[in-house]
Amino acid sequence: MEIFLQGTPGLEDILAEEARSLSFSGVQSVAGGVICQGDLAEAMRANLWLRCAGRVLIRIAEFRAMHLAQLDKRARKLDWASILRPDRAWRVEATCRKSKIYHQRAAAERIEGAISAALGITPNPEALIVVKLRIEDDLCTLSLDTSGESLHKRGAKEFIGKAPMKETLAAAFLRACGYHGGMPVVDPMCGSGTFLLEAAEIAARLPAGRARRFAFEDLAGFESADWSAMRRNFSSREAEAVQFYGFDRDQGAITGARANAERAGVAEWTSFACQPLSALEPPTKQKGLVILNPPYGARIGNRKLLFGLYGAIGAVMRERFTGWQFGMVTSDEGLAKATGLTWSEVSRPVAFGGLTVKLYQSAL
Ligand SMILES: C[S@@+](CC[C@H](N)C(=O)[O-])C[C@H]1O[C@@H](n2cnc3c(N)ncnc32)[C@H](O)[C@@H]1O
Repeated sequence: MEIFLQGTPGLEDILAEEARSLSFSGVQSVAGGVICQGDLAEAMRANLWLRCAGRVLIRIAEFRAMHLAQLDKRARKLDWASILRPDRAWRVEATCRKSKIYHQRAAAERIEGAISAALGITPNPEALIVVKLRIEDDLCTLSLDTSGESLHKRGAKEFIGKAPMKETLAAAFLRACGYHGGMPVVDPMCGSGTFLLEAAEIAARLPAGRARRFAFEDLAGFESADWSAMRRNFSSREAEAVQFYGFDRDQGAITGARANAERAGVAEWTSFACQPLSALEPPTKQKGLVILNPPYGARIGNRKLLFGLYGAIGAVMRERFTGWQFGMVTSDEGLAKATGLTWSEVSRPVAFGGLTVKLYQSAL
């Protein structure tokens, strides 16, 4: 079976690298994600472990259809009862591109009709189980979303903060900085603590989705004993000491980030303190990674004032963090330049929060 790992456009290669590191087979980057091969158990494993994927889809059929009657006939041939349960709500989403079938709603209705006939229940627009129909150049692909809620929702983070980084993006940016655990991580403007929680969980080798539910738990082929075993059988590792340091000038953010770390079970290895950037010093002798997403104009704050802040970030890094690695996410090239730092690498643009951001890296 083909599995599609939906990623963040611009960061597909990082997701592919993560999938390879977790031994998924036939890993190949494509626009918007990564394709690999496996069965439902592999899709479950992908949901549980992958940090950089937004969703995991399994392909259930692929065929050509030039008109709606043909689509209807092919859809009715599928063994829906072996895929979906009659006691669980489901719905269909359809997209059509460059195809003779161009009416998305009409195409979705054909699939809905076929499933209803097989299971005896009608679709529910609120359902977590989503059958996706994509028609492109007359080629129809039917997939099943095995994730349900987007995978950036890890299940432990209740405090959100002002402009939180998405967990899947934070994990991808950490990986892009070469972080795989084993070094201290500092976020001087940590907000809700996303970078530090991801970094601590990576270091402790904790599964990303250990605290949440997935849509695959409601599918016909799902075996709860297999799932319980998969969730239990992993060997986490303990950090020897605190390695993850979060600072923010906002006390509310620090209280919230600490509570998030407690809920995620990584509080032992994290330390949070209310402190402005100007007071930042390396919190450990061992050099590691400083990573942050400072405020940027269109989201928070006034761009003119932000020039001073970015200048201060650059000065603190240059003067106090020699030998550390540095990663900064911002939407504004001018602000990145205002740090005065030399970039060893600038990522491809990535859509985030209605803007385009890039990861700027520097060896200090
Ligand atoms: C875009 S948010 C960071 C979001 C965070 N990465 C998360 O995932 O929640 C920027 C943070 O920088 C903090 N901040 C702004 N100016 C600061 C300063 N001079 N010193 C320390 N923190 C500052 C804000 O309070 C805010 O929490």
